Amino acid sequence: MSAHIIGYHTTQFGELWEKSLFDLVEETITGVLKSTHIDISEIDAIFFSNMLGGVLENNLHAGAKIADIFGLHIPIFRSEAACASGGVAFHLAHEYVKNQKGKTVLVVGAEKMTDVQPEIITQGLMSAASGEEQECGLTFPGLYALMARVYMQQFGYDRKHLASVAVKNHAHGVLNPTAHFRRAITLDQALRSSTIAEPLGLLDCSPVSDGASSVIITSDPSRLKKRKNIPILSSQIATDSISLLQRKSLVELKATQIAAQKAYADAHIKPSDISIAEVHDCFTIAELFAMEDLGFWKKGEAGARALQYETLLTNKGPLIVNTSGGLKASGHPVGATGIKQIGELFLQLTGKAEKRQVKNIKYGLAHNVGGSGGTAVVTILGV
Ligand code: COA
Repeated sequence: MSAHIIGYHTTQFGELWEKSLFDLVEETITGVLKSTHIDISEIDAIFFSNMLGGVLENNLHAGAKIADIFGLHIPIFRSEAACASGGVAFHLAHEYVKNQKGKTVLVVGAEKMTDVQPEIITQGLMSAASGEEQECGLTFPGLYALMARVYMQQFGYDRKHLASVAVKNHAHGVLNPTAHFRRAITLDQALRSSTIAEPLGLLDCSPVSDGASSVIITSDPSRLKKRKNIPILSSQIATDSISLLQRKSLVELKATQIAAQKAYADAHIKPSDISIAEVHDCFTIAELFAMEDLGFWKKGEAGARALQYETLLTNKGPLIVNTSGGLKASGHPVGATGIKQIGELFLQLTGKAEKRQVKNIKYGLAHNVGGSGGTAVVTILGV
């Protein structure tokens, strides 16, 4: 059975101190049901993605908590794969719908990160790294900084090549009403921002954010007939060693490359067919890796091409990247991110992306990464 997305909703991303994790879940589920005119009683299963509820607030058994809010008795599954939790939940939901006739399921991702001190959130995020990386006192900015240094040395780049990614994604974030940051930044501001882990400055990093996003997937012909829908052409997951020490190369993410190759083959398209992509820019270096590992640009080219702002909306190139603002400006509530990326493609492909709408698009790709590349999910949608 072919599966299609029929609706998307997201809460605001940012510091949402007045809302709890499950307030955000309730808000986005209610929003997506309203936008599709579907009653919760018509949903056959829910797939929930969240990373830190158990670590930060002793909040597990989420399925029953969601059932409680809406008075449900349907199956509710939770997925956790660090920052790729959303992509994995979507993949599982897609498989469920493909393999069972006429089902309609809801995928919801949420994270509540800003209520705790920075050292607690940093430690919580590091639960997604290897034991020895944790024992060394490494952080995710530190791990990506190590990869950035190798990349810069190998291909002759400097900090401005990284920072240009942040300038572009902040320019897109200005156009996204639900983004965490809606302010443009200059290259000079990015280069002068305080050092987090050399060579990464504050403006090379995605922020700590709260937020929740959801989509509805169905293969039910009667539901498809009544609504704008976007076919899911492929959703593929690949994994890799969790520790950077075990990797043969530090200038690529093997999991991204494998998931992408499988997704292009499954969708019967090539990288040059993609017009819009939401890629996992948890740090600016990560977008450079993504552009190469997803097959858009050759290895070693991304620094130079990023500095030309080739994928900026206003440059009207053949490929526009991170119209939502990416993780950098849109924000990164980790469990929600993978769903928001797919939701942004849905808005673009249904012509509802308003000020950030890209014209004449046929295929969109979402790329969601867990940790420093231990998991990657690549999803392709097409009209
Ligand atoms: N980009 C832009 N601005 C940011 C920002 C970011 N990533 N993070 C914080 N800010 C802003 C805040 O809005 C605040 O601005 P204000 O003074 O105008 O209100 C200011 O910078 C200070 O914010 P604060 O919360 O004190 O920053 P911090 O120093 O505690 O945290 C980081 C900054 C970069 C350390 C934190 O955002 C971080 O850890 N990011 C990475 C998250 C991560 O690892 N995710 C997993 C990826 S694999």
